[in-house]
Amino acid sequence: MPEVDQEGKDYGINIPVKTEGFFLKGASALDWGMKNRFSRIFNPKTGRTVMLAIDHGYFQGPTTGLERIDLNIVPIAHYADTLMLTRGILRTTIPPTYQGGIVLRASGGPSILKELSNEQIAVDIEDAIRLNVSALAVQVFIGGEYETQSVHNLTRLVDMGNRYGIPILAVTAVGKDMARDARYFRLACRICAELGAHYVKTYYVPDGFATVAASCPVPLVMAGGKKIPELEALKMTYNAIQEGAAGVDMGRNIFQSESPAAMIQAVRAVVHENLSPQEAYELFLQLKHQKT
Ligand code: 5RP
Repeated sequence: MPEVDQEGKDYGINIPVKTEGFFLKGASALDWGMKNRFSRIFNPKTGRTVMLAIDHGYFQGPTTGLERIDLNIVPIAHYADTLMLTRGILRTTIPPTYQGGIVLRASGGPSILKELSNEQIAVDIEDAIRLNVSALAVQVFIGGEYETQSVHNLTRLVDMGNRYGIPILAVTAVGKDMARDARYFRLACRICAELGAHYVKTYYVPDGFATVAASCPVPLVMAGGKKIPELEALKMTYNAIQEGAAGVDMGRNIFQSESPAAMIQAVRAVVHENLSPQEAYELFLQLKHQKT
């Protein structure tokens, strides 16, 4: 029989219980599980994240740099706070001992040979839970041919995510007739947040990115976009962070770099340590020559 407890004495009567806020924009009212998952994506010390996006194969097959994820990505995965990928690559290729966050691609359907906005939800929430993911990502095509369908994918996933405590990342994909400017991204990001996305991924625009970040009530992460020279990519990262992004979800500018390991460490230094682009580029050159 268990011992009968002697009633406690130390009730800390005069010490108020701390009511902690939460370090991410727009996330204070979320439940514990959602916040805990967010803390696996965003570093609570800096409030920022380096997500390594390697999900390109879901619509374009073995993309340059991702031909062999076991050889090219697994050795650098520990430099990322989070991987963004499909469940096929997660199950087949990523060691289950991986300690970072997992953001699972949850929409898909068309390949590059067809109309890309014609996506459906491509993962069952039970499988996402089974895989212990930190968030689910869905493409939203504002202005695209299947705009409403992709928005409906988002809202259904938000309902599922809210039910089980899994954050939903809305990925803004550029519709055919929309210019990639701040006006477009203000529209797209705000729609995603209004409809319940817990955070949003968008592209950097040199003119007015701060207004995109300011008018979006949830954290924004910057997509890398097509491969550009390393110094340019570091400048873009720096500017996005200074103008309000809470991190990056970068793919090609890391895994197509001449030294992916050096590049992801340089990006980390900009995101988490506020290194200037030139300082980060010097770090990149130094690490590249060390062949880390
Ligand atoms: C594909 C995606 C990619 O994850 C995204 O484009 C990030 O990769 P990159 O930095 O190469 O643009 O969402 O639709």
